Order: sequence, then C-alpha cells, then structure tokens
Amino acid sequence: MMNGPLNINEHVEHEKKQIDLILETVHQLSGFDFNNYNRNHIKRRLHLRMSQEGSSDLTSLLNEINCNPQLLDKILNDFSIQVTTMFRDPLFFLKFRRNVIPLLKNFPEIYVWHAGCSTGEEAYSLAILLKEEGLLERARIYATDISEEAINKARIGKFPLHRMNNYRKNYYAAGGELEFSEYYNADDTYAYFDPSITNSIYFHQHNLVVDGSINEFHIILCRNVCIYFNADLQNHVHQLLHASLHNEGFLCLGDQESLISLDSKKYFQEFDAKCKIYKKNDYFRSGS
Ligand SMILES: C[S@@+](CC[C@H](N)C(=O)[O-])C[C@H]1O[C@@H](n2cnc3c(N)ncnc32)[C@H](O)[C@@H]1O
Repeated sequence: MMNGPLNINEHVEHEKKQIDLILETVHQLSGFDFNNYNRNHIKRRLHLRMSQEGSSDLTSLLNEINCNPQLLDKILNDFSIQVTTMFRDPLFFLKFRRNVIPLLKNFPEIYVWHAGCSTGEEAYSLAILLKEEGLLERARIYATDISEEAINKARIGKFPLHRMNNYRKNYYAAGGELEFSEYYNADDTYAYFDPSITNSIYFHQHNLVVDGSINEFHIILCRNVCIYFNADLQNHVHQLLHASLHNEGFLCLGDQESLISLDSKKYFQEFDAKCKIYKKNDYFRSGS
C-alpha cells in the first residue's frame, strides 16, 4: 500500500506525537518536565529551534537532541525564555512604591521572593527601591529560577552597559529620583552593580513545577513566568505561592498575567488590578 501525503488532521496529530516524544526525551535527559507548559509556546520554540539548527523536521530534531547535549541545553533555554529588564513595566514599580511600601513599614522584617527571577534584573530593581525607602536592611530577598545558568549570571550582578540607558529611563518612570549610575561601576562594556545591592539577595535554583515552598513571604513576585504554563500548572503554581505568603502578603504577577482559575481567585483579592498586585485572602485560613 502506498503512503500518500498526510491530510491536515493527520499532520496535526503527527506533530502532536512528535512534540510529546521530544518533551518525554527532554524530561528523561534533563529531569525537567515541560509537559504542562503552554503547547503553543512549546511548538513555536521548537519550530524556531528547528530553523536555527537547519533541521528538516521535528523527527530529526528529536534524533539530534538524543546525541547532542549542547542542543539539549539550547532547548531548555528556549522553553524557559529569560527575557527581562530592570524596572520592567515601570508603572508596576511606581504603584508598588506608592501603595505597597507604606504597608510594609510596620513589619520588623520583610521577606521577599522573586519566583522566576531570570538573570536578576527584577530582584536588583526591587532591592534599589527598598534601599531608597529605607527598608533594604530589614529585607530578606530570595530570588529563584529553574535555570542554573540564569541564577549564576544573576549572582554576579554584571549587565551589558548599553542596556543602562533604557534601565535608567525605567528607573525614573518607576519613581526613582537619584542618579541611577550611583548604583553601579562601569567599564567599557559592563555595569557592575554595587555590593550593597548584590549582597542583599540570595539566589538559588528552584523549579516551581516540582519544588515546594521555601519560606513564608510578605511579598512574592512571579512576573512573566506562568504565562508559559497551561491552566492546570498556573493553578498549581498560584496555590504554591498562596501557601508561601504571609497572611497580609502580596502577590505580584506580570502585565499579561492574571489569576485565571476560580480556585486561585478565591485565594486572593485584587489590590491593584491594572498592575496585577493581589493581596492574600485570609478567609480560608480563618474559616470565617
Ligand atoms: C520571562 S522571564 C521573567 C523574569 C522576571 N520575572 C521578569 O518579569 O522580568 C521567565 C523566567 O521564568 C523561569 N521559569 C520558567 N519555568 C520555570 C519553573 N518551572 N520554575 C522556575 N522558574 C521558571 C525562566 O527560566 C525565566 O527565567
């Protein structure tokens, strides 16, 4: 019997199976399970990787992954997109400074968790803001990411100098009033953030999909991370973050994100809907 070209449905089904096989292989080889990441995101990243590697189809990409550890690393990076900036979405930082900071001033210690911190820019931004508000000394800032490579970069606190212009603009839009360059030393290529900022953050590898809570926090920022997860996984992560929050704690999500499931919505109240700042809903703990 002759095998003709696949019709559209067969093609979609075939591609789905190939993607399942790739995810299974990545899981076996790396220990990272991307099965509950948004399928469109995974598909887009694999097609981009295919064209960058010159692979003719997903089957040849799969064969390559099995025998090329560097390709596996590239694919792990592709799936976990690490794009970030300092004071990203400056309005969020401005509102945080104006409306959340005053509520933190009563706490003797302030625990902060950046879940999915990438290369650290978000954590450094908040550390600068806390320093300017006189709260850095009593803050314990944890910043975690699934990517060990991103965490290693974050710890160093060294960023390309050409990005500073943009970061300075964001800093002022976020309510900063000092000279931004006071926070780093620069050579011709890089800006090196001041140890008073870099030493205030504990960076660790942590996978939101499989690892548990690491402490109880007053502030959790999990921004532009769950956007790549399917609904079940977003719900799982939001419950983990809820369980990791102090009763009067705040959860901050990314600009394009929200609490999608009814379950998650029960656990939080909107504090600033536009800037995606939520306050823990203590209703369930008190049972009232
Ligand atoms: C787009 S970056 C967001 C960085 C920063 N929060 C921001 O908003 O600029 C998304 C980060 O989430 C991390 N990530 C993806 N899956 C993760 C997981 N399962 N656990 C922890 N971090 C994860 C990625 O490695 C990446 O660094």
